[in-house]
Amino acid sequence: MKPLSKKSHFVLILLVLQSVLSAEPAAITVHIDQPGVKISSLLYGIFFEEINRAGDGGLYAEMIQNRSFEDDTTPIAWTLVQSPGSEGGIALDQQSSLNKNNPTSLRLEIKKTDGGRVGVANDGFKGAPQRPPEQREKWKLQFDQAVKESHSGISVETGKAYDFSFYARSAKGFAGPLTISIEKQDGTVLATHSIEKVAEQWNKTEGTLTAKASDSNARLVISSTQTGIVWLDMVSLFPKESFKGRANGVRVDLARMIANMHPGFIRFPGGCFVEGDTLENATRWKKTIGDIAERPGHYNLWGYRSTDGLGFHEYLQFCEDIGAEPLFVINCGIAHHGVATGDKMDEFVQDALDAIEYANGPVESQWGAMRAKAGHPLPFNLRYMEIGNENGGGAYYERFALMHDAIKKLHPEMQLIACVWHGMPTNRPLDLIDEHYYRSPEWFESNATLYDSYDRKGPKIYIGEYAVTAKLWAGKLAAALGEAAFMTGMERNGDIVAMGSYAPLLELDGWKTWTPNAIVFDNSRSFGIPSYYVQALFAANRADVVLPLELKAPENEAPKFSGPVGIGTRGGGSAEFKDIKVTQETKTLFEANFSDGQSLPKCAGGECKVQGGALVVIGKKTSDANVFFGDKSWSNYTFSLKARKVSGQEGLMVLFANNDGRLIWNVGGWANTAHGLEMPKINVTRVPAKIQIPGSIKLGQWYDVRVELKGASVKCYLDGALVQEAIRPPVPSMFAVAGLKESAGEIILKVVNTSNEPRTTTIAMQGSKEILPEAEGIVMAADDPMASNSFENPENVVPKARRISGVASRFEHAFPANSITVIRAKVK
Ligand code: AHR
Repeated sequence: MKPLSKKSHFVLILLVLQSVLSAEPAAITVHIDQPGVKISSLLYGIFFEEINRAGDGGLYAEMIQNRSFEDDTTPIAWTLVQSPGSEGGIALDQQSSLNKNNPTSLRLEIKKTDGGRVGVANDGFKGAPQRPPEQREKWKLQFDQAVKESHSGISVETGKAYDFSFYARSAKGFAGPLTISIEKQDGTVLATHSIEKVAEQWNKTEGTLTAKASDSNARLVISSTQTGIVWLDMVSLFPKESFKGRANGVRVDLARMIANMHPGFIRFPGGCFVEGDTLENATRWKKTIGDIAERPGHYNLWGYRSTDGLGFHEYLQFCEDIGAEPLFVINCGIAHHGVATGDKMDEFVQDALDAIEYANGPVESQWGAMRAKAGHPLPFNLRYMEIGNENGGGAYYERFALMHDAIKKLHPEMQLIACVWHGMPTNRPLDLIDEHYYRSPEWFESNATLYDSYDRKGPKIYIGEYAVTAKLWAGKLAAALGEAAFMTGMERNGDIVAMGSYAPLLELDGWKTWTPNAIVFDNSRSFGIPSYYVQALFAANRADVVLPLELKAPENEAPKFSGPVGIGTRGGGSAEFKDIKVTQETKTLFEANFSDGQSLPKCAGGECKVQGGALVVIGKKTSDANVFFGDKSWSNYTFSLKARKVSGQEGLMVLFANNDGRLIWNVGGWANTAHGLEMPKINVTRVPAKIQIPGSIKLGQWYDVRVELKGASVKCYLDGALVQEAIRPPVPSMFAVAGLKESAGEIILKVVNTSNEPRTTTIAMQGSKEILPEAEGIVMAADDPMASNSFENPENVVPKARRISGVASRFEHAFPANSITVIRAKVK
């Protein structure tokens, strides 16, 4: 070996010194022979929602967009094909419908062919989203911003087979032939099939096309060289190969990605998708079963129409195929705008009972027979049902009780999940409650201990939706680290946290109405964001019982308050707001002055109008009314405004740092007896120490309100006087959970290092059991916490296997910066 030069010697000493000084040590002690609580076998599951084209255009393997021509008032996704010299036209038509659920078909008129052809082409799931004409404006406001038209057409592979089917009927004088082909955009034919005769009545044609070459931007063309008129409906193209070979099945690549998450359960089919914007477009499972040509489909509040080809039966089948417990979310008669009453409500209760019968009932029963007819005589064993989604307040509690009683009477074995959107129902005993958290990484880190103090006598917890959504970190490793830190707390409390699912699951690139999503895909590729890998890693390495663990580690900086601001009212009160301003040092981040007639910001839970230069917020008795302004990247800002109360018993709501939930300075609340700094599930030290301090405001009087955020501190001023303040303490930089996998004789230790430095850690495995020196390790890490994955670099941040040697009752291990590590150590 060459001796080191003086200079390199010096550099080496410096480097060693630097690493010794920077890497503060940490210590973990695991009590390996003191098995604690059991960890629920369903702890890690997934939440599948029809959002971002997760189903239609995604997991559901149908390759044709707008297959039944019901998506809009124009034949979107379809274009006329005319070879030079030929002439024709296409139009939507509702005469002589295929059936009452699918009233619209496509009329193709072939006027002149001149030796060429006229036809119609479908580009797959390419193009802008659709929404019902009457609601376009609304969709635009809510969900259109992030949609781009980047995804390509139909993707086919050389030698692979694709099953087509369509219904056709002809006008007198046209008998065919029709040609169906898969073509490149330049017309090169990749696969073709000819249908000699077209009858005057609707007739279904089916066949298979085998691609001669691969193309990810192909299209399906139905055309003729003869003149005449032909109507088409339910034009469908599926890859022959589907996950587990199911007809009307799901995409193999995406299903495998989901299977690799090892989900204990699948919650389906949504979310807000189940609730619907109105009850008319709420999801009703009975309309999603049977022949796909008879399913009406419905407008989906995420901005496109659902075919419901991926329906109740298909979801149950998918759960079974993947080995996950089904968890069905049923609408409880409440939409975002609308509540069912009377007979209508009875229908929702009956829906729940019939859903259970469909899934589990004997083949002799009405709904069990339908399941058998659909090819599954054996029961699906549905055991979990969630009553509504993100519903709360009196209307929900009443409907929850109705559904609970009807279900429990006939099916006491069913585990019912209640929403805890505005507190949990107290009128019935609860099996499980569903909590949702979309927050910052720091929120998740500082809430890794959230469940340590939960009441063990209360209902079990299902964390139905959680993810770091704060813009700065969304989709990055930093987000995954925050979630992983929180998940150590879920697992440590596996006796009470029975289930959890990251949300949302899937996103068709270009159709993003929600960010981030665990799996991003286009028509032929997919990748997981770091959060996807955390989910998969924790699920694949779940222990059976918790082992007590102590952790000593340096702390990170205190978490900053960050995110948008807002204003609002509570309890049906109304208030006026003006001169709204958000500043950051000398920069104005946001300013709003209101003049009559100007367009209104979105007002959630109430109504807004502009009057006399102010924004008037009029609340509802049952919900807070809020208007939000700003950006998730905001921090260190001063939010100032003028506000006056117009009516009601409750206070003026001044919201801030919305990245971590509803943080509210409630001015003149509690029947105008107190001001309150409401920060649910935020760890803070307050001055004065209580949430509320005595205080009131005068009706009709304008007040200057100011909320100042400086890093981890918040100060609230009324007419220039400081009233309340709070500061967040620092969060630990490391998180860990240990457990025993009895069947494998293994201790599973999961460690999350959220700091930018590697941590040399002394690990003590205390107890009498002997530990083998060679352990299996899996590490996901990157020097840059903002690292992520993409189509170009799908495996930039993924878990990597690593053998760990020298494991003993006391050993040292260096956890890399920004890392999640799993150590599986064998015990004798
Ligand atoms: O996961 C996306 C949405 O977030 C869900 O539809 C809803 O339940 C929540 O608001």
